[in-house]
Amino acid sequence: MTSLPLHLLPATSTVDDDGVLCVGGLRVPDLAATFGTPLFVYDEVHLRRRCREAVDAFGHQRAVYATKAFLCKAMARLAYEEGMLLDVASGGEMHVALAAGVPADALTLHGNNKSLDELRMALHEGVRYVVVDSDEELDRLEMLHREGLPVPRVVLRVTPGVHAHTHEYISTGQDDSKFGFNLANGAAAAAVDRARRSSAVELVGVHSHIGSNVFAVDSFARAAEVMARFAEPLELPELVLGGGLGVPYVGGEEAPTLTEWGRVVLDACRSMGVTARVSVEPGRSIVAAAAITVYTVGVVKHLPGVRTYVAVDGGMSDNPRPVLYGSGYEAFAPDRVLDPRAGRARVVGKHCESGDVLVFDAAVPDGLRAGDLLATPVTGAYGHSMASNYNKLTRPPVVFVRDGDARLVVRRENYEDLLRCDLD
Ligand code: LLP
Repeated sequence: MTSLPLHLLPATSTVDDDGVLCVGGLRVPDLAATFGTPLFVYDEVHLRRRCREAVDAFGHQRAVYATKAFLCKAMARLAYEEGMLLDVASGGEMHVALAAGVPADALTLHGNNKSLDELRMALHEGVRYVVVDSDEELDRLEMLHREGLPVPRVVLRVTPGVHAHTHEYISTGQDDSKFGFNLANGAAAAAVDRARRSSAVELVGVHSHIGSNVFAVDSFARAAEVMARFAEPLELPELVLGGGLGVPYVGGEEAPTLTEWGRVVLDACRSMGVTARVSVEPGRSIVAAAAITVYTVGVVKHLPGVRTYVAVDGGMSDNPRPVLYGSGYEAFAPDRVLDPRAGRARVVGKHCESGDVLVFDAAVPDGLRAGDLLATPVTGAYGHSMASNYNKLTRPPVVFVRDGDARLVVRRENYEDLLRCDLD
């Protein structure tokens, strides 16, 4: 594959006559000049379309955006405005969503080890429901009840024993899992009994999430069937089937759309006679393809007979996915998008380790040199949200582009930010 597969680019992408990529009506090199690199560029129209597609597929407030995929105030507001609820998996995510002005009633709280403080905050704010993951969590909720906090609505997270075909680190539905109450060994049924008898919680449903970046819709259908079989006799109003829909990252990969996912999941529920309100929690499929990351090349090293290294000004601190999961990405020059990518190189970052790889074996345009821009598409999910300050790099800014306007929604960190928590 030499030319860049253009379908990996954000929805409003166009290519000017001189080969320059425009997103949201703006030339990417101009954005790089204005905001510097590395830079996350998100196509706002793309984000809104994906949110609306999820809402159309599952219904108003039946698609819950998993904020872990990418969260800042602007994103929280956007997803809520488009009719989604928001899944927060920590006190920090809850804090950001609330700071964005999203009402607590639109938030669902997740986490396999929520602290008493996180639970107290959720009950105090009045989140829509808490997804309970363990007996200890029920103990904590009973403690908070004794403190006089309001009784929360809860759904119980169940491990359905369905193996999703994805990377081991992001596969969660199998029996050997730290998440939820196991269905096969009776823990889930026991938790339902306990929650029903407890005056500290109001049990409203059950939940499962089989894993992330799953391409096979039949895995989702199987999980829906298993959960439907468990849930139906309980006659609870909510059945939450998690997120996990995969997206194509590189040429040749294909994933179902949100619409197709909705059809498969809802058909499976219908065929099982589910009467509960079915909802899902997509993260990646909403935001991944909406963004590209723009870098500047700093070093090109040709090692004869070995390979060429292209080092850019970011790395594993803005995208740890290649290092963590061996994930593949494409690379391209945003100022000559249509040029054949006849060269091959390993695109690396500027961190002090050999594992700092962004693209292991990338097709790149010939003649790349220091000062050139290089971009990676499909970096909108689990890039910015998993970014770190390793080597005390400052985290990149995020710009939302739309109809010729660029809106900086997260500024670049500066050196002062790196000292914000240091005490003398
Ligand atoms: N619901 C629950 C309970 C989850 O644990 C997750 C993701 C989601 C929904 C959203 O899943 P999505 O639609 O985004 O696949 N850092 C990894 C992904 C970790 C996913 C964790 N849970 C990655 O970069 O691939």
